Amino acid sequence: MPAMDRPADWGPADLIDLDRYPILDPDSPRGAALIAEIRARMAETVLCALPGFLKPEVMPRLVAEAEALVPLAYRGPAEASPYFYNYGTGLDALPAGHPRRRKSPRRLSQIASDLVPEGALIRRLYEWPPLATFLARALNVPALYRCADRFQGLNISVMEEGGCQQWHFDTNESNITLLMQAAEQGGEFEYVPLIRSAEDENYDAVRRVLDGDSNRVVRLAQEPGMLVLFRGHHSIHRVAPCRGKRRRLQSILAFNTHPGVMGSHESNLLHYGPRVALFPREPAARQAAD
Ligand SMILES: [Fe+2]
Repeated sequence: MPAMDRPADWGPADLIDLDRYPILDPDSPRGAALIAEIRARMAETVLCALPGFLKPEVMPRLVAEAEALVPLAYRGPAEASPYFYNYGTGLDALPAGHPRRRKSPRRLSQIASDLVPEGALIRRLYEWPPLATFLARALNVPALYRCADRFQGLNISVMEEGGCQQWHFDTNESNITLLMQAAEQGGEFEYVPLIRSAEDENYDAVRRVLDGDSNRVVRLAQEPGMLVLFRGHHSIHRVAPCRGKRRRLQSILAFNTHPGVMGSHESNLLHYGPRVALFPREPAARQAAD
């Protein structure tokens, strides 16, 4: 019986449609064309979606594994600003409607990295060295390392009916996500490419987006098995409200260009709950920006 017929034997390479995405052969003509295409998309639009990256036949098992972990998900803050909580300094001096003071609903739970078991397919994929090698080539960086933070490395975001994520900027430069299960309706990923820069926060444009101006908003309808590479540090983005009974399940694969990156203790408490305080704080080679 071939390996693909025995789910218990599936390894990371069995999950990926390697005919369509020859990530193990980046120097072949097709592999090089794939890398070039991703780099071009990222440069043009800060996002590259790879539909069908995972084979349709493996999705039911990934979903079943994620569903089994849903009771462990932590709800986190019910509202947040586009800049999360890193906005305390001088906040009171800002006018009431300033984007740094604006909070909007955040309705999602997250399964922390340490709660995703070693044998789960999504963890085996995340920890598979060829994936990091491929992503580093695709993002045109010398190397990528899995996030060293106990809680942040691999997350599964869970959205029930009405679930959403507020407009926000990422603290990380790049973000890799893999949709496991879509909501029945809604739950689209929406973003405004490069609305701010290192030199200019462009608060007027951010305020317009928060006020509902969709002029510059780009929408991505994700489908299960789609891998999305996104640069969200300068591009505000959100997940639109989910509708219907089927929950939206998405994994977030955190990689950094340096080894040993940890999240902040305060951020972990906020997003993963009070149990975070039970663990010893580990020394960080580097601290994430949040
Ligand atoms: Fe984000």
